Amino acid sequence: MKASIVVFSQTGHTIFFARAVAEHLGKVGYDVDIELLRTRKFARPHARDIELRKIPDPSQYDVIVVGGPVWGFEVNPVTAAYLDSIETLKGKRAAAIATHALPKALGCTRALRRLTGKLEALGAQVAHTEGLHWLFSVNRRRMEEAAKRIAERLSPITGSPPAPK
Ligand SMILES: Cc1cc2nc3c(=O)[nH]c(=O)nc-3n(C[C@H](O)[C@H](O)[C@H](O)COP(=O)(O)O)c2cc1C
Repeated sequence: MKASIVVFSQTGHTIFFARAVAEHLGKVGYDVDIELLRTRKFARPHARDIELRKIPDPSQYDVIVVGGPVWGFEVNPVTAAYLDSIETLKGKRAAAIATHALPKALGCTRALRRLTGKLEALGAQVAHTEGLHWLFSVNRRRMEEAAKRIAERLSPITGSPPAPK
């Protein structure tokens, strides 16, 4: 079983979280690849002209985890542009992750809801979402717990059944 983690990360927090998620997905039996989204021009909050350097292909994976930072009380436009660029996630299980600096209600909940909506619109079955607070540093115990919850929900053994093809 293969898992893809696709994240945007400007200052490294989300990629750090993604690595923890990858480690836990590995423990429940997945081969995991992490892809970092990169843009041609410097990305800004709410930008509508995002051009991705590469669009990671999700077709070979059983599950996909997508995420990035909260920007301007919303999902950052790079992660959103990735999901707008792919054709289908039918038959895949998914999770969404976000990192944020402000209290969770101020944008993170909305960002995760937006990501969930986009994933579901592509046909994925969203098993879980996690927001991780990161201001100057991260609480590593909370990060590990969040990563473990994602892996448990996406686990081929204990997680929810696969989405219909
Ligand atoms: C342009 C910009 C806008 C941001 N807007 C928000 C926000 O609305 N709410 C919030 O909680 N954090 C906000 N942040 C903080 C980031 O979400 C937080 O630092 C995140 O962990 C960064 O992730 P990264 O290191 O993966 O890029 C913003 C950061 C930047 C650079």
